[in-house]
Order: sequence, then structure tokens, then C-alpha cells
Amino acid sequence: MGRRTAPPPISWLMQTALSRPKLISLAAGFTDNATLPVEISRRMLNRVLRSPQTGRPALQYGITAGETNLRRLTARHLQKLDLGGTPCRRPKYQGRQPAILPTHSPDRVMITGGSQQLLYMTLEALCDEGDMVLVEDPTYFVFLSILQSRGLRARGVRLERDGLDLMHLETVLQRLKKSGELRRVKALYLISYFHNPTGVTTSFEKKRGVLKLLKQFERAAGHPIYLLEDAAYRELCFSKGGDASPRRPRSSRRDDPAMVLEKSALMVPGAAERVIYTGTYSKPYAPGVRVGFGLLPEPLFTSVQRIKGNHDFGTANLLQQLLANALETGLYDRHVAKIEKRYGQKARVMRQALAEHFPPNVEIWEPGGGLYFWARLPKNVPTGVKSKVFQTALKNDVLYVPGELCYADDPARKKPDHEMRISFGSASEENIRKGIKRLGAVLRKTLG
Ligand SMILES: Cc1ncc(COP(=O)(O)O)c(C=O)c1O
Repeated sequence: MGRRTAPPPISWLMQTALSRPKLISLAAGFTDNATLPVEISRRMLNRVLRSPQTGRPALQYGITAGETNLRRLTARHLQKLDLGGTPCRRPKYQGRQPAILPTHSPDRVMITGGSQQLLYMTLEALCDEGDMVLVEDPTYFVFLSILQSRGLRARGVRLERDGLDLMHLETVLQRLKKSGELRRVKALYLISYFHNPTGVTTSFEKKRGVLKLLKQFERAAGHPIYLLEDAAYRELCFSKGGDASPRRPRSSRRDDPAMVLEKSALMVPGAAERVIYTGTYSKPYAPGVRVGFGLLPEPLFTSVQRIKGNHDFGTANLLQQLLANALETGLYDRHVAKIEKRYGQKARVMRQALAEHFPPNVEIWEPGGGLYFWARLPKNVPTGVKSKVFQTALKNDVLYVPGELCYADDPARKKPDHEMRISFGSASEENIRKGIKRLGAVLRKTLG
């Protein structure tokens, strides 16, 4: 495995961004620096460490599946999002909170070192070398790196503006059944909210459709095919009704992220046995705290718990307690409401800069949340690491994520190489303007 594992592009991108101070990185999935919750974290740590009685357990090893209080609070928090409609409209309970649903039980919650750890362990538990995972086409490139490292294969399922293309999913499953490879398919990986890299959100109806299709093919597969829902960006929602894209006004209400942002796949009937839900406190709170979580069906929960026992036998207790306190005091929710506004503003700045500086034949996908815009150049203009566009951009001190990194090696199609992911997460407003101007100049020169 050591020999097989290719250098992960994420490490190179982060290293490049950090080692060149003049470079404006629109590549990294870093979050907004200015709003990182320093003050809240200090107060919460003081709360945890206020006495030896509260401080000592936090400074000790903990339970492999996670701190009991954080598991309970996480279950409640998720249920609140699922019952409340969109994350943009958080429900305020008067009086008693509703009883916890069986799908959202704290017993099913596992706390991990970022959701990345959970994605990794889930694949470890589910897949043998040569197995296959269905992914959105394109998808989160670090997930593809895990597959590569573990000797797993991926098949891409087309992505539309409102999520996965169900007809294409059916075609892919049929094809795999015909070729005898369906028995190697273990899961479908879906980034359901403000997708990385495209910003697309998959509607609840589509999640229902995905689960139905996977179930339909299970008999031929001979085992469960899980829906792995990655909701990393769920809480970074800033669209209150859907901003229109600068170039492509929405053609139908289905594109409106506020409308389709409803519930997670956990709310689909039958989800308890087939949906693995992963979430994170990195994006809405702080990546430096690096606590993620997941809800897993049995028997997978037990398997992953055992694997985590071997990995690290538990996520850092102090950080879990910090988060539990932030959730309990309501400061977490207040913080999320604040950063939603901040990201909304930064996304507007990026949208305006794109409209001003990018050539008109570049198609822009604008998100209603998350951290990324997706830009599609004419098909004959490559954007990959070796391309003229990327190298000239780098020379001009601006970095983006080449779209080709986000596509699985899939023999059924040629890998698209004419797109780019542009992030407004960590750059200041001034640097977003400057970075887009520089990138726009490179594109205008290349596209003529
Ligand atoms: C789609 C997606 N999933 C998971 C993660 C992992 O985040 P973390 O490990 O910080 O929870 C990321 C990070 O960028 C992401 O973009």
C-alpha cells in the first residue's frame, strides 16, 4: 500500500499555498480566517478547565466512539436540521424538544478526527482491494485519493444542477450488473449539500430515488450497497431564496438551493440500515479543532468502532468537550449564523469579480452555500496542472484546483480537463477581487 499510494494533490496544493506568501490561493478548502471563533473557543476552554473536576476528564483519554455528551448533542443538532427544513431556517423550539428519532439516536453517532477519518475508516471496513465505489462525476478529490491508495475502483455518475442524474445511475448499475462487476460495488458516495467541487445540492427527492435504485440492485449484488452521504458543507448555507447566477438565470425553481435543501438521506424510509451519514464541525466551527462525526448502521458501526480503536482509540477529548460546550450554550448556533452572512458576502464579491473579469464563454456555477464556485471553460481549453492556463496562473501568483483532479479514473468516459474549482473560503475580499482579476487576465489571454 505504501508503494501504491500516489502523492495526494491536497498536500501539494496546501504546501504551495503556504510556502509562497505572495500567492493568492483560491484553491484550498480552508475556511474564513477572520471569523474563526477565537473568543468563543477561549471561553469554552475556560469553562471546561474551570475546575479539576471538569478539567481532568477532558485532559484524559476518552471513549472510542466519542464523548457521551457530544454524541447526544450531535444527534439532537442533526435532528433539528432534519426536522427544521433548511439549515438557512433553523427551527426554534418552544418548550420541550421532540423525542429523538431512531435514525438519529446518539447510539449511532461516532465522533471522529474530522469527517475525513470517518470516510477513510468506512472504506476500510466496507471494501476489499478491487472493490468499487460509485461517485459523483466530479467529486471530492481527496476521497479519490483514498480510493487510489486502497486499491479501490470508482465509477462516475453524472451530476446535474440539482444533483445526481438518476437515469445515469440506473444505466451505470445496469452496465455493472451485465459485466458481472456489480458484486464489487459497495457504496455510492454523495456530497449532498453545496457539493465539493461544484456547489450543487442534491434534492431530497433525488436522495430518495438514489436509495431506491441502490436497494433495487442489491439482490444482484448479493450484499447491501450503502449510500454514503457526506454533508460537510451543510451548515454553510447563505442563500435565502437562491441567488441567480451572473450568467445563467435559473430556468426553474428546482435549481433554487433554498428549496431543495431540505432533509438528509437519514429521513428517507429504510435509511437506518443503508445510509451512512458523515458531517463535520471543521467547516462551520474550526478546522483546527478537527472534529467530525457520522451516523452509521449496524453492523458497520461496530466494525468502524473497532477500526477506530486501532487507529487512535478515540478523538481528542479536550476538543470534543470544547465543542460540546459551544453546542450546549448556543454559541455554536450564533457563530454559524454569523459566518453564513460572511460567506454570503464573500460569494457576492466573487460573483461580481467573475462577472467583471472572466471571459463570457466561461460558464459559472454559483453556489447557495459552501465554499466553491465551479468554472467551465470551452472544452478544448485544458486547466490541468501541466496546462498553460494553470502554469501561467501560478506564474501570476494565483492558484485554483484543476477540475481534472476531481474526476475518477473511469473507463466509460474521457476525463474532462477544462474546469476549475475556485474557493472564496480563506482569501480576503480584497484578495478574491485581485485573484479573480489575475485569473481572468490569464483566461482572456488564453481564450483570445
Ligand atoms: C466534501 C468533504 N468531505 C469531507 C471533508 C473533510 O473535512 P474534515 O475532515 O475537516 O471534517 C472535506 C474537507 O474539505 C470535504 O470537502
